Amino acid sequence: MKDIIFDLIDSEKKRQSEGLELIPSENYVSADVLAAMGSILTNKYSEGYPSFEGIPGWDEKDIAEKILPNYRYYGGQANIDRIERLAIDRACKLFHADHANVQPHSGAQANTAVYYAWLEPGDTVLGMSLPAGGHLTHGAPVTLSAHFYNFVGYGVTEDGDIDYDQMERLAMKYEPRIILVGYSAFMKLPDFDRVAKIRDKVAKKTGEEILLMADMAHVAGLIAGGVHPNPLDHGFDVMTTTTHKTLRGPRGGIILSKGNVASPLKKPEKTLANIPILIDRAVFPGTQGGPLEHVIAAKAVAFGEDLKPEFKEYAKNVVENAKTLAKELKKHGFKLQGNGTENHLILANVKESFGFDGKVYERALDMVGLTLNANAVASDKGGAFRPSGVRLGTPAITTRGLGKDEMITLALWMKKVADICKEAKTEENLDKYSADLETIRTEVRDLALKFPVPAI
Ligand SMILES: Cc1ncc(COP(=O)(O)O)c(C=O)c1O
Repeated sequence: MKDIIFDLIDSEKKRQSEGLELIPSENYVSADVLAAMGSILTNKYSEGYPSFEGIPGWDEKDIAEKILPNYRYYGGQANIDRIERLAIDRACKLFHADHANVQPHSGAQANTAVYYAWLEPGDTVLGMSLPAGGHLTHGAPVTLSAHFYNFVGYGVTEDGDIDYDQMERLAMKYEPRIILVGYSAFMKLPDFDRVAKIRDKVAKKTGEEILLMADMAHVAGLIAGGVHPNPLDHGFDVMTTTTHKTLRGPRGGIILSKGNVASPLKKPEKTLANIPILIDRAVFPGTQGGPLEHVIAAKAVAFGEDLKPEFKEYAKNVVENAKTLAKELKKHGFKLQGNGTENHLILANVKESFGFDGKVYERALDMVGLTLNANAVASDKGGAFRPSGVRLGTPAITTRGLGKDEMITLALWMKKVADICKEAKTEENLDKYSADLETIRTEVRDLALKFPVPAI
């Protein structure tokens, strides 16, 4: 008998097809990415790494054909080694990196490995604070990293940009070993050069090397598509990212770095030049066991897609759609953090705009088939469970082919749902408006079905 799990997968297919995904950290993978991920590669153990020697100057055919010795702890790696080398090579091409570790199981694992590679317990990291838009893994007290390291947070200015002056003051005061630029809710393009100058100033003061780290989990696809600056082109040593957001790959993480690439077997000196090797050792055996080679194969397929000219067009459309949507929402009275967006992400303060909180709005939008998440805005008084805002974005709907006209329609639906929430005020009361919500639900479903989800 068929496992009930497959019925639930079918129900999820229907939910994805009939609704529109506005969560900015989600996307839809291609049939090829899905096929690689669901392949027999999941059967294989491959602790360790393929050999990196010989890759510079090789084309894909060389990498796919040539067998090299490896640094693995199990036999039978001929195919796995070549798959992982292709994933590494494509990731390096996409982001102009000297090295890529493609094994992190997630973005959180990638960040943990970088901290472990470079820091000693008690060392300080300067990153964006959580209320300002930073991620949990940048020092939230509930995390493992916060248990071992000391995190100091910088904030954003009134107009939603990074407070670079504050960053500099805090860096000079706390002398961090890592300065981190990364976020889950920030709508501007960071000035990486300015951060690099701050690093140089602090390094001159302390006489020590300071690691510049960018967590580009959200915007990596925009970087790959050429519509967002690349931190590795602006003096950064390390960039982490998830692979499932704007990059449109399988769920997972990677770590890109600049520096020497060599055998991970010998412990190198802790210098910035050696950061690729330190990172390899920090991922395995430092913080992970066997790599998920089926996911690494899917990452390689996605990176191959990301290197194609069509992906540049996609990245451009993601940003254009976000800008149109932001403009339309403002016309309807939505107050947006940063007054708009320069990337794929929008943060709307619904409490200030209409008087209800993000959770009520998230629930009401769910009822009409529009999925997003309630999110704190800068200096939010509502706390994590009653935040004042909602966060939305355009990566997934752009993959489905929605464009300018649909952004205008989407903003109108969002306004209609906001009007309902103004009257309902609480989640419990929303049921009273089910007829009005159902009318919008039907319109959303009709539009969604005109733009099929890939690989469903
Ligand atoms: C900036 C940032 N870093 C790290 C992560 C963690 O990624 P994962 O959920 O794959 O662990 C996220 C996820 O949302 C993120 O936005």
